Amino acid sequence: MKRNFILLLLWAVALPLFAQTPVYLNSAAPLEDRVEDALQRMTLEEKVAMLHAQSKFSSPGVPRLGIPENWMSDGPHGIRAEVLWDEWYGANWTNDSCIAFPALTALAASWNPEMAALYGRSIGEEARYRNKNVLLGPGVNIYRTPLNGRNFEYMGEDPFLASAMVVPYIQGVQQNGVAACVKHFALNNQELDRDHINVQVSDRALYEIYLPAFKAAVQQGGAWAIMGAYNQYKNQHCCHNRYLLNDVLKRDWGFDGVAVSDWGGVHDTQEAIDNGLDMEFGTWTNGLDWGKSDAYNQYYLAQPYLQLLKSGQADEEVLNDKVRRILRLVFRTTMSPNRPYGSFGTPEHAAAGRRIAEEGIVLLQNNRNVLPIDLSEMKHILVVGENAVKRMTVGGGSSSLKAKYEVSPLAGIQARAGNAVRVTYVRGYESPAEREQDVKGAKDPQAKTIDAVALRTEAVNAAKQADVVLFIGGLNKNPGQDCEGADRAALELPYEQDLLIADLVKANPNTVVVIISGNAVAMPWVAQVPAIVAAWYNGAEAGNALAAVLFGDVNPSGKLPFTFPARLQDNGAHAAGDYPGDGRNVVYHDDIFVGYRWLDREKIRPLFAFGHGLSYTAFQYGKAVAGKSKITAADTLTVTLPVKNAGTRDGAEVVQLYISDRKASLPRPLKELKGFKKVFLKAGEEQTVTFTIDHAALSFYDDAKGAWIAEPGEFEALIGSSSANIKTKVKFTLQ
Ligand code: BGC
Repeated sequence: MKRNFILLLLWAVALPLFAQTPVYLNSAAPLEDRVEDALQRMTLEEKVAMLHAQSKFSSPGVPRLGIPENWMSDGPHGIRAEVLWDEWYGANWTNDSCIAFPALTALAASWNPEMAALYGRSIGEEARYRNKNVLLGPGVNIYRTPLNGRNFEYMGEDPFLASAMVVPYIQGVQQNGVAACVKHFALNNQELDRDHINVQVSDRALYEIYLPAFKAAVQQGGAWAIMGAYNQYKNQHCCHNRYLLNDVLKRDWGFDGVAVSDWGGVHDTQEAIDNGLDMEFGTWTNGLDWGKSDAYNQYYLAQPYLQLLKSGQADEEVLNDKVRRILRLVFRTTMSPNRPYGSFGTPEHAAAGRRIAEEGIVLLQNNRNVLPIDLSEMKHILVVGENAVKRMTVGGGSSSLKAKYEVSPLAGIQARAGNAVRVTYVRGYESPAEREQDVKGAKDPQAKTIDAVALRTEAVNAAKQADVVLFIGGLNKNPGQDCEGADRAALELPYEQDLLIADLVKANPNTVVVIISGNAVAMPWVAQVPAIVAAWYNGAEAGNALAAVLFGDVNPSGKLPFTFPARLQDNGAHAAGDYPGDGRNVVYHDDIFVGYRWLDREKIRPLFAFGHGLSYTAFQYGKAVAGKSKITAADTLTVTLPVKNAGTRDGAEVVQLYISDRKASLPRPLKELKGFKKVFLKAGEEQTVTFTIDHAALSFYDDAKGAWIAEPGEFEALIGSSSANIKTKVKFTLQ
């Protein structure tokens, strides 16, 4: 009785307190109610303040109302180290060394959406722990040319694959109360002239190739933020591009999140106001120049906007729409009641990175079964190449990381080989940047020059003594390689690696070439080298993951997320002479024929095809059977086939479904990826793989109608182990 009375009394005291809690602070209130309530409490100045940066990576909250600041971080492979408030220099914190995850190319090469979910969840936890509420990633710009310096941050050449992989990544990040900021919207397919080049592309290519992964990110992934691109489209910068932001993203796709500018990607206040930009960030302190004081107030969406509002030249409702979006972001992240606490630099995250890396490594060639290496048969393993020891989590531009640790390929190989086998290392070649680093402060100017011949000779002599040679080279994250801000100069490997590889394999036929890169490279020595591995930039656990594959602890199951053309001119962007444009415009004459779509049309054999990747076991594909032979537009079609692991090792195969539209009113690619399944099969095991083909899989974008259509007629489902290795086909008719 007495207890009830006390409870009643407490309730009577507490009720008015609850009643007074503003709706925006009531975490149980519906999101839109919180947004409206906060908005109507804000002054004009407070609203405008939220629209632009206050430091390199943060923007103001509303201090008076207790609404927190927004803190962003690159992305997309780990949580970037803290930089100074106004500068790009590291702030020298000692608690910000992250787990470096594999590059997004590696993730895409896993062809496993479960790995994307694991990646997103893990990096989201790291971001959350570091109190970031926006992760600047993932990137889903389509791989159009192998020269693009930023391909390693993206998910390959195919819109279906990139869409399937980006969705779970975003969901994983956002379940931590951290927004994924998908970038760079859109058509940012080269770094050369990136800040102004105007892309001219057909509507078909835009909708069929360049937009689908963004659309999936928004509509299926539910991304809370998106970043505009530096380049132009329709002669308007993408960060304030009316068509892309207002018409496509916000109107057609119903995006209710925040459109963030790329850093320094804004060029005009009126366009930024009118054309759908919500938040402005800057590479430079005032968005334009270096080091001006009070610079953030000079941003396009700062004082200039406030003045227009105050003088009645700008409509406050347009401002309110932007602020609503930013408030939504805050309530979804920092002020969300369901926000977990995250974790940082954990062994679990490292293990997640390793799993992703192991699933993404691609065995490109394995003649004479040189791989896996049987350690019991080895006395001496020689490792050659700068990439065996070079730190790859550093460099590459904004994705550069301060990693808690990084296991180099050499360290991984040594650790796995143990004491029973002698592992020796020679450099074989050296990159100028690394050389500079090595001889820093050296008085002798000669020390700076690289004697490539001497390095090569040393490696070749050593190769003659070894049981097996592991050459570990490729590209690196230095400018002009896989690095933001510039493109590569050529498809060929740099630093005379081709000469070295050719000499090594002559000296020792048991030479394995491991290419570490985020891009395709030419391989003039492909016929001589028995085994070739694509190992990407694999983050903290790179060396361990590579060793696990080389020595057979892990059976490789990665598949290429982009084509390796034999020559640059075998790629559509280069065949037509489009790339890199005339400095002002770049015309995409390759149109919808990007990647394998081009090679298929031109009947060009790739060096290694999109979707290609070998295993240490062998898979047998049975005959594909369609559930029925005719379908209607409202229907779906089931195609099944048995796939068997016919070898003696457990392994995984990525079974790929391509659709071929045999006759259409508009040109169509010979085939397009419309489904894939990664199946794990024990030695001897057989499984039935099922694909469901829907209307979308049969459709193309009709630019005259401005709509996706599927034309009645005959189609073919092609199922195979790569885009160039179709194992079984089945025809069906759309009525
Ligand atoms: C890059 C973005 C990055 C931003 C912040 C820009 O230069 O294009 O991808 O998120 O910098 O570092």
